[in-house]
Amino acid sequence: MSEKISYFLKKYQDRIENLLLDVFPKELSEDPTVKASMYSLLAGGKRIRPVLMYMVADMLHVDLEVIDDYAAAMEMIHTYSLIHDDLPCMDDDCLRRGKPTCHIAHGEAFALLGGDALLNRAFERVLLAVSKNPNTIKAACYFAENTGISGMIGGQSIDLSSEGKKIDTGRLCELHEKKTGALINASCLVPYFIYVADHCEDQELYSLIHRFSAGTGLGFQIKDDLLDVQADAQVLGKTTGKDERDQKSTFVTVFGEKSAQKMLDDTYNDVYDALDELASRGWDVSDLRQFSDLLQNRVQ
Ligand code: IPE
Ligand code: IPE
Ligand code: MG
Ligand code: MG
Ligand code: MG
Repeated sequence: MSEKISYFLKKYQDRIENLLLDVFPKELSEDPTVKASMYSLLAGGKRIRPVLMYMVADMLHVDLEVIDDYAAAMEMIHTYSLIHDDLPCMDDDCLRRGKPTCHIAHGEAFALLGGDALLNRAFERVLLAVSKNPNTIKAACYFAENTGISGMIGGQSIDLSSEGKKIDTGRLCELHEKKTGALINASCLVPYFIYVADHCEDQELYSLIHRFSAGTGLGFQIKDDLLDVQADAQVLGKTTGKDERDQKSTFVTVFGEKSAQKMLDDTYNDVYDALDELASRGWDVSDLRQFSDLLQNRVQ
């Protein structure tokens, strides 16, 4: 990792870590549901979604203070999705972010409620953002759509209902685009919708950011599928080999490791093409380019 990118990552990661410290009212800090939520929220995720949000915002010269509520809300939604994803009724996992999963540490009932509380609080935060800047309502709508049944929840639904079944490539792509791609899409496009609140709509800019985020989202999940068979659980911070165990439909279980790697590389070629086109229109994409390289080659 170059010093420049590590500086930029740290700057954004520190910003989001700070915001996450007090997402619930202080007087509720001893509530068992809040304890379960905070246990997972502060367990040390990579924070790639808020980082992407801040990087795209910086590229578009959008004030990061306007992004903060969305960045916190996005990480809360992502963490709730992980808490629920690990429950015995879903992927039944015992290790997450290098620690026992929420339901192992806090019990199933509080893990369920802890996830619910994060989801609800995230939308309180988004509504707060809209009340501060009413002309950003489109950003809030896009956020909501991508986190729900047309996005992440819809993807989880396809994931679980495809266990033990053969699905075609189109359905597999839909699964990945929704369960993982949707939050990454929203992370990249919320800044665009905030940008257009003060500028003219720019369909070409929207399409290029969308192309970047679609590839980044699909690539992120293909890499997650590869890491499930290639990574060291200690480094990864979650158990490995579980996709095969659960008969999941993933790029690795459907196509094999070698083809999955090729698909990852092809997907990233498109990500870099989108960035090149953004650059040719005068946008500074240097941090996004370095961050993409980091994501493509990550080991955790
Ligand atoms: C894990 O996401 C779940 C997927 C969508 C693949 P991350 O790899 O971003 O997990 P954390 O936030 O760093 O723990
Ligand atoms: C989960 O996908 C994506 C979510 C919406 C949480 P996975 O089930 O593959 O994520 P991991 O491997 O448990 O992190
Ligand atoms: Mg899952
Ligand atoms: Mg899982
Ligand atoms: Mg996985």
